[in-house]
Formats: sequence, C-alpha cells, structure tokens
Amino acid sequence: MTKINFSLWIISVVLAVPLNTLSGQRGRMPAPAKEGMVVSSHYLASQAGMQVLKNGGNAVDAAIATAFALAVTLPSAGNIGGGGFMVYHGADGTSTTFNFREKAPQAASERMYLDANGQIKDNSNHEGPLSVGVPGTVAGLWMAHGKLGSKPWADLVKPSVELAEKGFPSTWDMQDILSYFQKQKQPVFAAAKKAFLKNGTDLYTPGELWKQPDLAASLKRIQLQGRDGFYKGETAALLEAYMKKHGGIITAKDLANYEAEELKPIIGYYRGFDIIGMPPPSSGGVAIMEMLNMLEKYDLRKMGPNSAEYLHVLTEVMRRAFADRAQYIGDPNFNKDMPIEKLISKDYAELLAASIQMDKASKSDSAAFGSLYLPKESDETTHFSVVDAWGNAVSVTYTLEYSYGSRLMADGTGFLLNNEMGDFNPVPGVTNRKGQVGTSPNLVAPHKRMLSSMTPTIVALDGKPVLVIGSPGGRTIINTVLQVILNVIDHSMNMGEAIETPRIHHQWLPDQTSMEGWGFSPDTKKLYEAMGHPSVSRGKQGQAMGIYIDPTTKIRYGAADSRSFDGGVAGY
Ligand code: DON
Repeated sequence: MTKINFSLWIISVVLAVPLNTLSGQRGRMPAPAKEGMVVSSHYLASQAGMQVLKNGGNAVDAAIATAFALAVTLPSAGNIGGGGFMVYHGADGTSTTFNFREKAPQAASERMYLDANGQIKDNSNHEGPLSVGVPGTVAGLWMAHGKLGSKPWADLVKPSVELAEKGFPSTWDMQDILSYFQKQKQPVFAAAKKAFLKNGTDLYTPGELWKQPDLAASLKRIQLQGRDGFYKGETAALLEAYMKKHGGIITAKDLANYEAEELKPIIGYYRGFDIIGMPPPSSGGVAIMEMLNMLEKYDLRKMGPNSAEYLHVLTEVMRRAFADRAQYIGDPNFNKDMPIEKLISKDYAELLAASIQMDKASKSDSAAFGSLYLPKESDETTHFSVVDAWGNAVSVTYTLEYSYGSRLMADGTGFLLNNEMGDFNPVPGVTNRKGQVGTSPNLVAPHKRMLSSMTPTIVALDGKPVLVIGSPGGRTIINTVLQVILNVIDHSMNMGEAIETPRIHHQWLPDQTSMEGWGFSPDTKKLYEAMGHPSVSRGKQGQAMGIYIDPTTKIRYGAADSRSFDGGVAGY
C-alpha cells in the first residue's frame, strides 16, 4: 500500500467512508453519481442516508435516516425537538408535502410574551421554556414514512442510534456552543451541560469522540415505538416534568395531540419548468412563485449574473413578495382567507411588476400596516436534498429556530428543544421600521403554527425532478433559494457554481439590501446604489444543499455549500 493509499484507508476507516462512494464534496465542482445521492450539512448524515439508498431504500426512506442522523451530528439545527417541512416529487410526476412545523401549546395566548406595558418580557419569546413550540419532526417523518416509505422504520432510525451510542468526531463548528454551555450555571441548563460537555464540565476538542447516551435512548424509543416513542411514554413524561419544573407550559397532552399534516404543494411554472414548493405555514413556496412570475418577463440571462441591473430587478421583486408575505401569510388552519391562488398567479405578477422602473429603486411603503415590527430570526436551520435510484426526489428543511434552538434540554432526553415560538408576531398590532411585522395572520394562538421562511423546493421538467434545493438562513432562505434556481435556469450554472455564487437579500423592511461582503465589486455596488438601493455588507448568506439531475443523462450532480462547516455529498 502506498503512503497516500494508506492515509486514505485510515481516513475511510475512521470516518466509516467506503472509498467507492463520494463524500465531503464542497465547492464549485459538483459531485456526480449515477443512482442515489444525499447532500446535507453533515457528511456523516449524508452517508447514513446514502447507505439506505444503496440498500434499496427510496428517497423518503433516505430522508428519514438523514434527518435522524443530523439530529445527532448537527445539534445546532438537526433535531427531533424542532420542526420543518418535506417536499416530495416522484419520478412518476406526483408531488406532495408534509408539514411538521411546531405548534403553540394549548396554554399559549396572543399576549403571552408581554408585560403590563405591552413590552416583551425578558426576551421570553426567544429564550427560556416559553419560547418552545410543541416539536413536530418525529410526527412528520413518521407520517411521510407511512405514506411513501418502503423500508422498515426501525432500520431507518438505526444509524442515528449508532451515531449517538458509538459517538462521532466532535466538530470545530461546535466549539462556541461548548464554551456557552460551560458558562451556564442555572439548573435549567443542567441536562444540556451533561450532554455537551465531557463529564458535564470540560470541552471536547475538535475531532474527539462525542457520545450521546441519553439521545441514543430517546432515539431507541422512537426506533422501537415509532411516533409514540416520542409523543407518549417516557420521553413525553420527561418533557412535561421539565416544563413544569422550569415554568414552561407544554404538557404531555400537547405532545400526544400533535399531528403532522400532508398538504398540497404550491405549484407554479417558470420558463417551462415546474416549481414545486411548500405551502403555508411556510411563506417560501408562495414568495418564490411570486418572484419567479414577476421575473419571467425580464431577460435575466442577458443582464448577466450579479450585474447591477440584475441585482436591481431582483431587489424589486423581493421587496414586493416580502410585503405580501407580511400582509397575508400565516397558518392556513387559522387564516382561511389567504389569497394564495391570486398571489401565485401570472396576472397578479404582471400587475406587481408593472410598477418596477428599470433605473430607479422603489420605496418599501409600510403605511398600510401602521408601525411595522418584523420578528427577529437567527441564522441556523438546516436543509438536505435526496434523489434515489428511480429519480424520486425529497427536499427537507427543518430547524430549532436559533442555533441550538432554546439551548434547553429536558433531563434524561439528550435532545435540544426549539425556540420556534419566536417566529410568531409577539406584539399584536405593533410594528416598526427597523424590521418587524405585527400583522394578524401570524399572532400567537393555541395549537397554531408560526409562520416560516423555510423553502424546500423541487424543480421538475416534463414531470421529472431536475433540481432539489433549499437552505437555512431565516428570511434570507427564500432569496437564497430564488437565486440558486435563477443561476441554474437563467444563467446555466452547474450545481456547484449556482450555490457558490454570491447572494443578496432584501425583505421589504428594513428598506436595505444585504450583500455578501466578499462577493460584489465596488463598481457593481456603485451602479446599484446609484439607482437608490442602500446596501449593507454581511457575512455568508445561507448554506444551500442541492442536487441537479441532468434531464438527458440522468446523472445526479450534488453540491454542499462551502459556506457550511461540515456539509457533504454522498452518492453512488
Ligand atoms: O422557520 C423559519 O423561518 C425560521 N425559524 C428559520 C430559522 C432559520 O432559518 C435560522 N437559520 N438559518
């Protein structure tokens, strides 16, 4: 064995990577594969999903295994204590979605976060036990499995149990949270400290094996008892006890009553492609369709990727779609009159686009809403994309809301709880220009789901998936997904280039554009700002994970955003 081969062999043994499979691919050159592929924010989770595909599982089977594996290897966003969305498009042309967004507990109320003066009390919508929504992930994966899975449930949960039991190398990405937990003294953090720190006190160094025995036990209950292994019995009892002890309001009954739902996708058309998106309570599908419909009349290819003219048009459509998002969209079970059909229609897009001037920015007008107040959102969530040997595709984005969610963990459970309640509009009717919306579709109510920006999307051609895409990033998610789709369809970029290209974000209010600081030349910015667009520089925007299926050769090309720490493509 040569020296190089020997090193590769050692790496593959340590990371359990078979050398005939792809792994860890990031950057501009997408990784090709013929049959199945998973792209996620953690290479080990991608491999867990790919192994399911190799064993004859379908895309939904692999998505379930990947989601559970991420709950172990990517604790910042992978989860069983949070919620999210799955979009499915089969090679047979059928499509559907699963909504497993968290719900407000029974005891929640519209003004639950406010003090007597109408001010938010102690940031309680984002921090502490009241910020936790009833988790949906396990119910969603269970439902998707019941409808579309083919392999035994227990086999799909198994890789995650093993990763938690046997451990995996702790990552650089986790160093900050380890120091955070080390500093926490309150009993409410006791379980998280025990799970994340060596002996409950010391930092794991990057690369050191990290085992999670309590999480393994929680996952085993799910493996053996399915949905009930989470929402009933020991896990539910541990969650309820923790909530009671620390002033939370989620009860065992809230957990037992949680239901995921199967929803009809948002379906639209753009330059001959079908766009399959997530309906409300995601705002992503509607907003993407609205923007693509407006963009269809422009020759974006001629403008060129990220030219000032192109950025101007993008900004104008973003502004308009985000204004509608704020005004109209919330949980459909509580907002029966949302004008979705109108918002995604070509006629409406034409009307909206008619006010776009080619040389001048318009202004974001908040007058219609009184003073505006947009809820704060963080930058952590995770997306993964799956394609199986038959060409079926699954696009999943799920989240704990903030990075590591509420950072709370019920004793004995081993998994972090979300702080998704912060995605509701906390102050009824109150709004401000700094950036938030307090409109009624998204106010807190018992059993209601909070509005989301997560935008798992599948693009199809002639009834077959050609692009599976999504990203984290709070409200920037929608614009990240939009720009990747345009890079593929309008600018003919490969999957890697489409993801790596610098991105911008405008969300109507505040009326400014954020631009990835490293990615735009001063000349471009000057031309762009001269049209009346104030801009601010930011770090990275999102971590897109995508698969492109060449419609002719059927080769799958995967790319994990190099903006991610540990993302990876696994294919065969
Ligand atoms: O559902 C939402 O829109 C947010 N809770 C997602 C949060 C998020 O993406 C944070 N970052 N990456």
